[in-house]
Amino acid sequence: MTGKLAMFGGTRTVTLDEADRKLLAWPIVTDAERTAILDVLEHGGFTSVGAGAAVVRELEARWAAYTGTRHCAAVSNGTTAIELAIAAAGLDPGAEIVVPALSFIATATAPLRHRIKPVFADIDPRKFTLAPAAAETAITPRTQAILAVHLHGLPCDMTELRALADRHGLRLVEDAAQAHGATYRGRQAGALGDIAAFSLNVSKNLPTCGEGGLVTTDDADMHDQVVLRRQFGERVPDKGERPYVSEVVAGNAKLSSMQAAFTRCQLDRLAEWVAERERNVSGLLAGLADLPGLVLPWTPPDRTHAWHMLRFRFDVAAMGMPDVAPGAARSLLQRALRAEGVPLQRYQSMPLPAQPALRAGKYDPREHPVTAAVLDDSLTLQRWHLNPASEPVLRRCVEAFHKVWANLDVLAPVARQAS
Ligand SMILES: Cc1ncc(COP(=O)(O)O)c(C=O)c1O
Repeated sequence: MTGKLAMFGGTRTVTLDEADRKLLAWPIVTDAERTAILDVLEHGGFTSVGAGAAVVRELEARWAAYTGTRHCAAVSNGTTAIELAIAAAGLDPGAEIVVPALSFIATATAPLRHRIKPVFADIDPRKFTLAPAAAETAITPRTQAILAVHLHGLPCDMTELRALADRHGLRLVEDAAQAHGATYRGRQAGALGDIAAFSLNVSKNLPTCGEGGLVTTDDADMHDQVVLRRQFGERVPDKGERPYVSEVVAGNAKLSSMQAAFTRCQLDRLAEWVAERERNVSGLLAGLADLPGLVLPWTPPDRTHAWHMLRFRFDVAAMGMPDVAPGAARSLLQRALRAEGVPLQRYQSMPLPAQPALRAGKYDPREHPVTAAVLDDSLTLQRWHLNPASEPVLRRCVEAFHKVWANLDVLAPVARQAS
């Protein structure tokens, strides 16, 4: 596991042949998906209305059953799922919603589409999700909701956020785009707030062959609003003539039946894959546990992680280089590990409020110090661990980490110079 680093001309630890690439393929496409899509092609009904409604409804019913919610509406993608969930939550234009400073851009833009202002709050340094204490300080008289993002697949501190929401009379909306199959105190993500949004993007743990989304809730009125708003604000009867009456201003956010058919097949295997991924990731993390300064993702005992992404932080002091700037260490470790064949990447390069699209004036990262520190000193593993067959490749990733750590004395002066 030692030897010269690949970035300095040594042998790369993780090389992939065609068989390995198959172990990493995501999403997994089997005959079940092929047959389901051919079935749609042969029987017509390409959209979610008319003949295509049955396959979409089946996915909705099965996702509601999986998450333990009363209602599910399939929509065109995860971004529209959040937009529709917020619209259905009935917030007033001009109201505020508390949003974590670390998330995907759609978390912040979705409220703005309804003229709801995202107010950013800092995250927890180990869970990477909204810190309830920070969320509380972000609440103002205009706040009407909290957007709980189960980032990377780890459910937020929902008991604390629920209590906070109840104390202030707020809606609690889940962004569960990355958290299919994660649980909190025995309940599924998607059943933890007033309404929840999932993404079915091809990269997600429950994917479709393209774009899609799901909205779950126990509230019949909110579900009704999502259904209304995914289709031009119209109520379309199952049978009979379409009346063409729009009750609210709304766009078109329907899921196509082919996409529903694909996801329905994926759902057949979700529970099994959740368990296998848990085993593989546990093995990976166990293999990395003794590397000083490598801070592994953490799952509190009251919840399970969907492992959409794994975020590793680097503690320069524990790595024996306290004088190196965390950003310089992270950047060098990324080069070293990528050269060894481990495709670590940044996930988000700045806090959401620093995004040019959202920034009003100059943003000071000291407003969200934990988010800023996490972005500076961490990297993520994406996709490679999603396929349940990826375990042999993950084992080689462990070797690559060990090799890099065995060479920290070589890397330290380079990092020192860079910082
Ligand atoms: C946390 C989060 N929210 C929302 C979205 C938006 O989902 P989609 O890409 O399906 O629109 C994503 C997708 O990357 C996400 O990761």
